[in-house]
Amino acid sequence: MKILIAYYSRTGTTKKIAESLAEKLGADVEEIKDTVNRNGIKGYLLSGRDAMKKNLTKLEASKFSPKEYDLVIIGTPIWSWNLSVPIRTYLTDNNDQFSKVAFFCTMGGSGDEKAFAEMAEITNQKPLATLGLKTREVVKDNFLEKLEEFVEKLNS
Ligand SMILES: Cc1cc2nc3c(=O)[nH]c(=O)nc-3n(C[C@H](O)[C@H](O)[C@H](O)COP(=O)(O)O)c2cc1C
Repeated sequence: MKILIAYYSRTGTTKKIAESLAEKLGADVEEIKDTVNRNGIKGYLLSGRDAMKKNLTKLEASKFSPKEYDLVIIGTPIWSWNLSVPIRTYLTDNNDQFSKVAFFCTMGGSGDEKAFAEMAEITNQKPLATLGLKTREVVKDNFLEKLEEFVEKLNS
């Protein structure tokens, strides 16, 4: 099975999970990049407001085409109990390009279920598996068991 992992990460947490998954699955990796600067306090506030309003952004060009993959695993941080703006944009721009999908996210506390439901709605796909992780689980390397479960679901 040809697998692509497409993710956005503002501060490296979601990136860590994407890279662990890529190693386990032998997948290609697309780091989605925004043309908007979201660094610092200004970037935080802008991102929170954009996410709440479900705004879209302009992304940098992608390296890989999702339609060439059997499975695309999409990863996002949670922003204002929503999916991040770059991932909302990626899914919207490519919404007819996905064969099968799975979703993961990282978050301070909550918002995963709502974001996953919306990701399913935008792609018009039921995910093979979902994985929501707390930031602190990722930082403390306390996510391997959940990651294994997620990978097992993908393979079953
Ligand atoms: C603008 C903004 C809004 C956020 N809103 C939420 C939220 O509603 N719920 C939550 O659990 N975490 C929230 N967080 C925390 C992030 O989801 C969390 O730190 C995540 O792991 C960051 O991932 P990253 O390092 O890949 O960017 C928010 C972070 C940012 C920057």
